Amino acid sequence: MTIGFIGGSGIYDALPLEDTRNVDVETPFGKPSAPLTVGEFGDTGREVVFVPRHGPDHARSPTTLPYRANVFALKQMGVTHVLASNAVGSLREDLPPQTLVIPDQIYDRTKHRDLTFFDEDVVVHQPFADPYCAELNEVLADAAESATDADVVRGGTYVCIEGPQYSTRAESEFYREQGWDVIGMTTIPEAKLAREAEMAYATVTGVTDYDVWKADSEVTLDEVLANAAENETAIKETVEAAIRALPEDHECACHTSLAGTINTPDEAIPD
Ligand code: ADE
Repeated sequence: MTIGFIGGSGIYDALPLEDTRNVDVETPFGKPSAPLTVGEFGDTGREVVFVPRHGPDHARSPTTLPYRANVFALKQMGVTHVLASNAVGSLREDLPPQTLVIPDQIYDRTKHRDLTFFDEDVVVHQPFADPYCAELNEVLADAAESATDADVVRGGTYVCIEGPQYSTRAESEFYREQGWDVIGMTTIPEAKLAREAEMAYATVTGVTDYDVWKADSEVTLDEVLANAAENETAIKETVEAAIRALPEDHECACHTSLAGTINTPDEAIPD
């Protein structure tokens, strides 16, 4: 088992890993956001491959991040399970900043992203009804509850907007009316690509703000980054506990999710 960790805003360095090396990879989709950090996680003997989604200096917009290169690079390194983190706004009064939410649904409002690894000659219609790995979600939520002091919410819908601007008040109120829970800019296309790459994928999101539906809430980058930094410890504790808890022989439907969905099996992403 090799575990990937895609760190969101506020997570720019790897977990405490031993025997680390930096791997500068190239993929058919270009370079990932940063060289990969590869190392062994403590006494587990598990190999972990870390990539900070936004790169070391957070210099790219959520539209132009190299999602395909990041996911492809993890696959190339033999990753079977991907744990991610995302900074999100809250769409609920009872999810204040610094709450951890492990979402189980996504509403995709992105508009300008490459959503697939496959080109026009290979049509792949994959099931995506449950966009995150349900089993990995359980592991993450248990880890968050046992290893952190944060309030943890199991399940919820992440509405993914294109950005880079935050929402208007009308949009934010609409999302609330739908009963959605958190809002961010980066879980799409990452979750779709991980499914295409047959890797189990789940994310721990850290709430950084109340979005703009709430009276007097404007959402500023400063507020988001300050709370993302506050969430850093709890997110890392969660991911570390999840890495320890994952059963060594864990296999799930995500690992064979291309079966029956692709018309030219040779085109599947190599193991
Ligand atoms: N990331 C963090 N907070 C956000 C918000 N309110 N909207 C979109 N993305 C976010």
